[in-house]
Amino acid sequence: MLSNTTFLITGIADKHSLAMYVAKEIIKQGGKVVCTGLGVSSHHENLSEKAKAFLNKNFQDFKEAVTEELGDSSVEILDVTLDDNIDSFARSLSEKNIKLNGFLHAIAMDKTIRNKEVKPLLDVTKAEFCDTMDVSAYSLIRLTHYLLKHKVLQSGASICSLSYIAAAKVTFHPYRNISIAKAALERITVELADELGRSHDIRVNVLRFSPYMGSKAGNATLNEEDVQTSNKMSPLGNAKPMDLAHEIIHLFRPDLSITGEIRHVDGGYHITG
Ligand SMILES: NC(=O)c1ccc[n+]([C@@H]2O[C@H](COP(=O)([O-])OP(=O)(O)OC[C@H]3O[C@@H](n4cnc5c(N)ncnc54)[C@H](O)[C@@H]3O)[C@@H](O)[C@H]2O)c1
Repeated sequence: MLSNTTFLITGIADKHSLAMYVAKEIIKQGGKVVCTGLGVSSHHENLSEKAKAFLNKNFQDFKEAVTEELGDSSVEILDVTLDDNIDSFARSLSEKNIKLNGFLHAIAMDKTIRNKEVKPLLDVTKAEFCDTMDVSAYSLIRLTHYLLKHKVLQSGASICSLSYIAAAKVTFHPYRNISIAKAALERITVELADELGRSHDIRVNVLRFSPYMGSKAGNATLNEEDVQTSNKMSPLGNAKPMDLAHEIIHLFRPDLSITGEIRHVDGGYHITG
């Protein structure tokens, strides 16, 4: 179904990342992937030793997971908070003559959630608010901008990103700060869908997924109780990573006339409550 296609997959931290399920399915369907992971790039300045060690370990884990799960797929460092990094990454794809049929944005970060404890919104600082917004929402615009600037993203391409129901309503888990960034990500999706559909025939959709504790981000945020609550409330129980992967593969199909969608892959949770 995806033969002769290449997709960029962001947001793989390890083999349990949601993005990994999507990457594996693309390869299974005959496509190719380019994967990006967070690591130390030549564009980082004044990194502390602690930050360097964190980023190096992150990139090592990412690379090992890609080699193990996806064979010889190419890997690149990408920190979406650094414009220069996104710019040079997109340029390097262009120099290698890589043309993308789309990409998956599977990136989120919120430092106001620590050890599953969520900071009340009233105490969130401007820096915390803006950092979360930058990494988790604005990055979708910037990444798209540079991929188009270097003519890497082809006309007719498909872009997907990941959200959750908390973007629209208070749920089983109080996400607070990151919920606002997810709401922005969803609105960005709709605006980009209109702009890019008209200008480049490019589709942009976002998928709200069930709570999933298997990934690093999910495990740092959620409690077992939240997952159970949502599982009970959802008519079909919580959706699984493979449900998400199948839906994204569908949206990645060339020549589909679907854009600006905020899709639910959540076992029907969104119709309850
Ligand atoms: N786990 C869940 O319950 C769940 C549910 C719905 C949606 N999502 C969303 O799915 C996406 C993937 O999350 P996941 O659960 O697979 O967790 P994950 O921890 O595997 O993935 C999060 C990724 O974001 C990356 N990232 C953070 N800051 C970055 C930066 N500055 N530049 C580049 N990459 C950066 C991390 O390196 C990591 O790979 C996120 O957008 C998340 O909000 C997760």
